Amino acid sequence: MSRQHASMPGVEQFDEYFHKNPAPKSLSKHQALTREFVQFHLESSPNRRIALVTSGGTTVPLENQTVRFIDNFSAGTRGATSAEYFLEAGYAVIFLHRQFSLLPYSRHYSHSTNCFLDFMEEHDGDDERVVVRKEYQEKMRRVLHQYQLAKKNRLLLLLPFTTVTDYLFQLRSLAVSMQPLGERALFYLAAAVSDFFIPRERMEEHKIQSREDHAGGQGAGASRQLVINLDPVPKFLSTLVHSWAPKGSMIVSFKLETDPALLVAKAEQALKRYQHDLVIGNLLTTRKWEVVFITRNGGERWLRVPKARRSKSISGVEELVGKAERKHEAQHVDLEGGTVTEGMEIESLIIPELAIMHTDMIENGK
Ligand code: PMT
Repeated sequence: MSRQHASMPGVEQFDEYFHKNPAPKSLSKHQALTREFVQFHLESSPNRRIALVTSGGTTVPLENQTVRFIDNFSAGTRGATSAEYFLEAGYAVIFLHRQFSLLPYSRHYSHSTNCFLDFMEEHDGDDERVVVRKEYQEKMRRVLHQYQLAKKNRLLLLLPFTTVTDYLFQLRSLAVSMQPLGERALFYLAAAVSDFFIPRERMEEHKIQSREDHAGGQGAGASRQLVINLDPVPKFLSTLVHSWAPKGSMIVSFKLETDPALLVAKAEQALKRYQHDLVIGNLLTTRKWEVVFITRNGGERWLRVPKARRSKSISGVEELVGKAERKHEAQHVDLEGGTVTEGMEIESLIIPELAIMHTDMIENGK
């Protein structure tokens, strides 16, 4: 049974949103794939848990025949990396991701900073083969093995979105399709979802012109400025928790901030407002090295990659690590740094913790 509450805040607001904005063309196909995926796991391994991982940034189109759109920084690293650790922890994963953002497994080689061509060479012989360079063999074999295992066992379902409206239509549809899973469903909302958009009724059909004599159009004035009016996107978390998601499922959201002084308070506020299970707070500049778990019992728990094992990050600012802590209350999961120099991914700490919390919720109730 679902947590259907017609009177819950947000439900009517979303009915209106879905009524006024067009559904993505892929919606029914994705819904059918999800139902099949859920059914397959319910029948083949009744104890299997399924995580819905959302990943990457949503776009906000400025025109219906879209040439220009507003976007955000997210490359989908958090989501793609987390999906791999969920699979490692025994979950099946529905990966709702921004089209062309990073994907589990291929992320190790596809990104421009990790160009797959740099991992290969022409074989030094007369057979014209292309081979993986010796120094990368071990890692590539490991990644390939895990990828093929996930494929063979139908453990990974990849579903793309582009706009914020695509994302919301799909989130609702997936959550409802996951209802038969009950408490075995886990929602891990790592996508960077826009808070503002242009509703369909106010959107230009054609490319906005830049000519000075452009007549009409959103905010086009006598000058060449383009003034854009954005409406707020309704907050979906409360509706997800109280209406779309299966009863008893675990719901984890992320809170992103840039100001260390705000992070913990804003994460706490989100948990209180939406009444879900966990908010994972992260700062833009330290997100690859530390996160904070804000739980319903008032906990503030920091997970941190030890200094010696922090991967290099161009946008990262190491001096800010630890600065968002509210010192008097925080707990830490700091690991020994040792002398190991290989980079450690923070998701390798996050996901096992979540799996334990999820087990606890299933065994002892929320
Ligand atoms: O992809 P990477 O480069 O690795 O970056 C990862 C990340 C920083 C994007 C990720 O770790 C992260 O923090 N994701 C959430 C970013 C975000 O949207 O934060 P927020 O503070 O704007 O939103 C907070 C919550 O409200 C989110 O759970 C979001 O799902 C939810 N929300 C957002 C918009 C909306 N209209 N309704 C919502 O309920």
